Amino acid sequence: MRIAVCASEGAPYAKSGGLGDVMEALPAALARIEGNEVALFLPYYNKIKQSEKYPVELVAQFRVGLGWRQQYAGLMKLTNRNDGVQVYFIDNEYYFGGRTGAIYGDLDDGERYAFFSRACLDAMAIIGYIPDVIQCNDWQTALIPTYLKSVYRNLFPNTRCMYTIHNIEYQGWAGGSFFDDVLGLPWEYRGTLDMGGSVNMMKGAIETADLVTTVSETYARELMYPYYAHGLDGILSSAAWKLTGITNGIDTNTFNPETDAALPAHFNAETFSVGKAECKAALQKEVGLPVDPDVPLMVMVTRLAGHKGLDLLCYIARRLLWEEKCQLLILGTGEPQYETFFKDLAAEYPNQCAAKITFNLGLAARIYAGGDVYLMPSKSEPCGLSQMNAMRYGTIPVVHATGGLKDTVPPCDENGEGGLGFTFQSYNADDFLASIKRCLNLYNNNREAFNALVKKDMSQDFSWNVPAGRYMELFHRMLSM
Ligand code: GLC
Repeated sequence: MRIAVCASEGAPYAKSGGLGDVMEALPAALARIEGNEVALFLPYYNKIKQSEKYPVELVAQFRVGLGWRQQYAGLMKLTNRNDGVQVYFIDNEYYFGGRTGAIYGDLDDGERYAFFSRACLDAMAIIGYIPDVIQCNDWQTALIPTYLKSVYRNLFPNTRCMYTIHNIEYQGWAGGSFFDDVLGLPWEYRGTLDMGGSVNMMKGAIETADLVTTVSETYARELMYPYYAHGLDGILSSAAWKLTGITNGIDTNTFNPETDAALPAHFNAETFSVGKAECKAALQKEVGLPVDPDVPLMVMVTRLAGHKGLDLLCYIARRLLWEEKCQLLILGTGEPQYETFFKDLAAEYPNQCAAKITFNLGLAARIYAGGDVYLMPSKSEPCGLSQMNAMRYGTIPVVHATGGLKDTVPPCDENGEGGLGFTFQSYNADDFLASIKRCLNLYNNNREAFNALVKKDMSQDFSWNVPAGRYMELFHRMLSM
């Protein structure tokens, strides 16, 4: 099958979050399936352009129509990837060069990704890569199914399109005038993209894609409710027949405690009692916490954003540090009120708390490996990847049972049996605290059972093999539609 994957980010070239990780691993997993041909289209951000690690060759130059504009696009083919995925970058200095260095956050993001979405289709047509299926992701490439059904129908008469929602909070809103000014779509699609007089790109994709997926089974069900759907529950309920949840995997080659170059020691499910202990001591030292093998080290690697459940942690943090002999380590950047909170907490409890307000992938890996307990109280979580990274590195998750957290962390009882981690059901700080305490209690009073759980978590298969097969099933279903 000939597959095109389009996304606004993909590791290792450009990544701001989980979407970038998925766009590294999913295309590769699809390419490993016999008979598949996979191309990945990404914007040619300045950072990629400047990196010597990514040699490219210019394969086409063309103009992309955006309303009354005609914008230059260069198609760059990456020449040094050898896992069967052909990567193409869409080059345009004005939209993806210079800028702030961050991937998103410019005031014309809507126009930037409208350009990218059209340019992907133009590029495929120009090089004669006519895919059987296009898989596109989140609001940034949400215009692709609508363009495909309309302006590009003749060029791609048999191509089917799957749209995947990684996070419904960001929908690609624009003013009503964006439709004429930038999109240049036939007028009959105005209603498809309309929400309350504005343009909503994600809504358009849900309506025009052949199938819609999201990144866990529970999240697919949750999206039927206003609490989770951020205004799109009605649209998704009407499209429920074409919505499926496929729980993400993680890249088990990149995230491998036996080989991860960022770690001071290596280990697996058999040898963790030595290797993981070394990682813990080194981590405590690195972040300035007292080196103590027997104090439970609770860790979190996260964007400091409200929906990650930080309000719950803030509410209980002082009580937790006061009542329990434990350490807390946070890595991440984000909303100023949380950055300040955790910096203050670390200053107040220097022997128990450390806050690293930065984005550091190496330290993140050392935290997954060196921690004992991984906290993830997200208010909502489409899938979440770091709880799987944590388990793979032998760190026990304590999570809010929502979205992908519910699907990947079945709950244990107080003896650490029956599941993979500790969970709480309602979004409530006292319930969160109680689940942390159940976990710490097991660590402090029954280390044998705790270690058995570590071993069990490390032995799970979180690879992309199973989910990639499910994507294929849906691709086949689209082709028979
Ligand atoms: C988004 C979601 C996260 C998911 C990731 C990859 O970042 O918030 O839950 O794991 O996309 O699909």
